[in-house]
Amino acid sequence: MKFLRFSDICASGQATGKRVFIRADLNVPQDDDGNISEDTRIRASLPAIQMALDAGAAVMVTSHLGRPTEGEFKPEDTLAPVAQRLSELLGREVPLVQNWVDGGFAVAPGQVVLLENCRLNVGEKKNKPELAAKLGALCDVFVHDAFGTAHRAEATTYGIAETAPIACAGPLLAAEMDAITKALENPARPLVAIVGGSKVSTKLSILKTLAGKVDQLIVGGGIANTFLLAAGKRIGDSLAEPEMVREAQQVMDIMKERGAEVPLPVDVVVADEVSALARANRIAVDDVAPHDRILDVGPKTSAKLTEIIAHAGTIVWNGPVGVFEYPQFAGGTKMMASAIAHSEAFSIAGGGDTLAAIAKYHITDEVDYISTGGGAFLEVLEGKTLPAFEVLAKRA
Ligand code: 3PG
Repeated sequence: MKFLRFSDICASGQATGKRVFIRADLNVPQDDDGNISEDTRIRASLPAIQMALDAGAAVMVTSHLGRPTEGEFKPEDTLAPVAQRLSELLGREVPLVQNWVDGGFAVAPGQVVLLENCRLNVGEKKNKPELAAKLGALCDVFVHDAFGTAHRAEATTYGIAETAPIACAGPLLAAEMDAITKALENPARPLVAIVGGSKVSTKLSILKTLAGKVDQLIVGGGIANTFLLAAGKRIGDSLAEPEMVREAQQVMDIMKERGAEVPLPVDVVVADEVSALARANRIAVDDVAPHDRILDVGPKTSAKLTEIIAHAGTIVWNGPVGVFEYPQFAGGTKMMASAIAHSEAFSIAGGGDTLAAIAKYHITDEVDYISTGGGAFLEVLEGKTLPAFEVLAKRA
C-alpha cells in the first residue's frame, strides 16, 4: 500500500518550521491512583515526536485515553500523567493544553505540547466534518502514528487525514504497515499462523481469513479443543464451544482443499481444575477422560509444532497454546516461543496474551515485529483494510 512517510517529509524539509500534528496512541493502563502501570505505547511514540523536533517543527501531539463521554471532562480522563511521563522520557517539559480545538495556544518551532484527550472533543467518535475541518486547520502536516487506533475512523484518526494539507504515516504506523505487508501480503513460504485463545466465536473471521492464506494453521487453547471436537475426539470437561464445531470443520475443509493443514494435538496435558495447585497429567489425545480438562499440548505435539515452526518462512502469532500462567501448563507455549525465537522465519506477533508470553520467555528481541495494536492487529488478521491505511493511501 502506498502512503507518505513522515521520515520523507522531514528529509525533504517540508516539516521545518511547520506545525506538525501527531496522532499517537498513548492509551496506557493506569492503576486506581492514575499512575501509569505500563508505558510501552508512550515509548513507542517517541521516535515520531523526536523526528518532528529534530526537523524543527512546532509539535502538537494528541491521543485518546479510555472511552470518555464527549464534552464531559472527568479527572480520570486527563492525559496529565502521560504528559508527565513524556516530559521524563523526552527530557523536556511537555505542557498539557486544554480546550485546544479552536487553536489559540502557543507552540513554537522546536517545542512540543500535548493536547488533552481527543475523545473529549464533541464529534470525535463520529468523525463530524466540522471537527475534522478545525483539526486540519491546526496544522501543516498531519502524522498518523497511532496503530493501536488505526481501526477507528474518528476525527483525529481519519477526518483530519482528509482535511490537513499533508497527511502521512509516522514511523510506528509505517513500521506496522511494512511488517504486516511482509507477513500477510507477500510472505516467504511456508506461512504459519498460530491462533490461540479461548473461543472460536471471537476469532472465527480471523481463522477463516487465515485458512485461505496460510500453509499451516496452528490452533491453541479453547479454540483447539473445539477443533478436536470437530475431528471427533472426546475432550472431557475442557473449555470449548460445541456450537462452533461446524465452523471449525469448515476451516479445516478450506485448509484441506488448498493442500494446507491444521495440525491438531496428538497428546495433551490435562488436570481436573485450572489452578496453581492442579496436578497435571500428560496423556494421548485419545485417552482424555470425562472429567479431564485439556490445559496444554503434550510433548509430542510440542515437538511437531516446533518442527513446523522451524521450517516456516513467515510466522504470525496471536495467542498461547496452553494456560501458560501456571508452570505445569506452560510447556507448549514455552516450546513454541523458543522455536519462534530460534527460527529464521520473519515473525510478527500481537495481542495481549501473546505479548505477555513474549515477555515471560524473554524473546522480545528475537521476534521480528511485535505489534502495538490490540483490536487493530486482530482486524488486520481478519483481512480488513484499516481506515488509517485506507485514508493515508488515498492522500498519497
Ligand atoms: C486499544 O487500547 O486497543 C487502543 O487504544 C484502541 O482503543 P479503543 O478500543 O478504545 O478504540
